[in-house]
Amino acid sequence: MSAKNKMTKKLHIKTWGCQMNVYDSGRMADVVAPLGYAATDEAEDADLLIFNTCHIREKATDKLFSELGRARDMQAERAKQGQRMIVAVAGCVAQAEGAEIQRRAPYVDMIFGPQTYHQLPEMIARVTRETGGVLNTEFPVEPKFDSLPRQTGGEIAAFLSIQEGCDKFCTFCVVPYTRGAEYSRTVASIVAEAETLVQSGAREITLLGQNVNAFHGVGADGAVWGLGRLFYRLAEIPDLKRLRYMTSHPRDMDDELIAAHRDIPQLMPFLHLPVQSGSDRILEAMNRKHTRDEYRRIIDKLRAAKSNIALSSDFIVGFPGETDEDHAATMELVRETGFAQAYSFKYSRRPGTPASAMIPQVAEAVKDARLHELQALLQTQQNAFNQNLVGQTLPVLFDGPKRGEKPGDNEQVHGRSPFAQSTFIERGDAPLHRIVGQELMVKITQARQNSLTGVLKQN
Ligand code: 5AD
Ligand code: SF4
Repeated sequence: MSAKNKMTKKLHIKTWGCQMNVYDSGRMADVVAPLGYAATDEAEDADLLIFNTCHIREKATDKLFSELGRARDMQAERAKQGQRMIVAVAGCVAQAEGAEIQRRAPYVDMIFGPQTYHQLPEMIARVTRETGGVLNTEFPVEPKFDSLPRQTGGEIAAFLSIQEGCDKFCTFCVVPYTRGAEYSRTVASIVAEAETLVQSGAREITLLGQNVNAFHGVGADGAVWGLGRLFYRLAEIPDLKRLRYMTSHPRDMDDELIAAHRDIPQLMPFLHLPVQSGSDRILEAMNRKHTRDEYRRIIDKLRAAKSNIALSSDFIVGFPGETDEDHAATMELVRETGFAQAYSFKYSRRPGTPASAMIPQVAEAVKDARLHELQALLQTQQNAFNQNLVGQTLPVLFDGPKRGEKPGDNEQVHGRSPFAQSTFIERGDAPLHRIVGQELMVKITQARQNSLTGVLKQN
């Protein structure tokens, strides 16, 4: 074995949950790369196996323990060959249920929350030096963003985390407990990372945060910048063709951000702005801090600023105390507003959140019926939105061959429309490198529930 091979260790991360977790998994890989860890697709080959978990809705813990059972077998198998497999649990389940994991799965070497990823090398060193595990679910004062290496990218459509945590305390949600208080990065560090991403090929950047439009980062001038102002600055980066952001809270949709939608062509006409419910009574019980009318007025302002903006939302059905009338109000809000896409969930009780103790909890069968009805309406709206694009010519930013197809096949190429739908074209005779990374005009010929197909418009 060469010296180089001896150095190389294998890392496998299994990721559940939101885009923040996908991003965090990438950053964990960046942090341990200097220690010699390279990614492998095969969990059983891993020297370091990390489960990056999500706690926002149901069954996260059950899923984790069944995966951990398998991990223990792999760990034992490796031990027979005299090799060490470090098993780690990261993310929001680790944060919320660290002690329980330690008790039920003592073979897990490291349990650590989302605020501690920059300390991974130190935690690995502790585990390899000592016997016994690491439980690290602190919210350290030293913010993790400032200590993580800058991401190097390589993606055409990249993600950049600018904000973390949430101070909104919606009564159903674990995020304020698992991700902690709202923290924004500095403008300088975000701009520097965006520039690095663009230099390594990114043409689109999606700014991420649990409550991204609550962003209030310190600028070079010492002033606190909101998200709108940050977009004006990012729009100055040459070759950065597209900007997006998620997830936003209606209360933080300020005038500067709405003006940014009007003024900045790079800011895509798409917004994920969860409303959760259309009933004022339920919105109040959820502690959403806005009414249904306030939400409608924000949408009106957005449409006045950017007439073609496509809207997306999250909905929860069956929140404690939700009546048929409340549900009808949600249906009505959907009908009035018109969504290009949306996510909807049955309320699930999260231990420790105020809503989990509220009564009456809604019966499962009622939740099922309401979810079914809501999803049918949302799907109809999504379908109508997509069908309406057939015949139109849209700029599509292409990011690579369709998943599962290898370069060299006469493949389809994947891109995104301004409204974030996956859009496919046949590559035909055009070489892949002439398409990928480019924003090209595409005539839409076909619309499906979740994607579009088109042909390159000849110039
Ligand atoms: N039950 C159901 N859905 C939830 N969400 C958050 N917490 C819960 C819960 N306890 C949904 C919200 C949020 C999305 C990310 O997940 O709609 O916007
Ligand atoms: Fe959770 Fe979003 Fe509410 Fe924050 S704003 S508590 S992340 S649902």
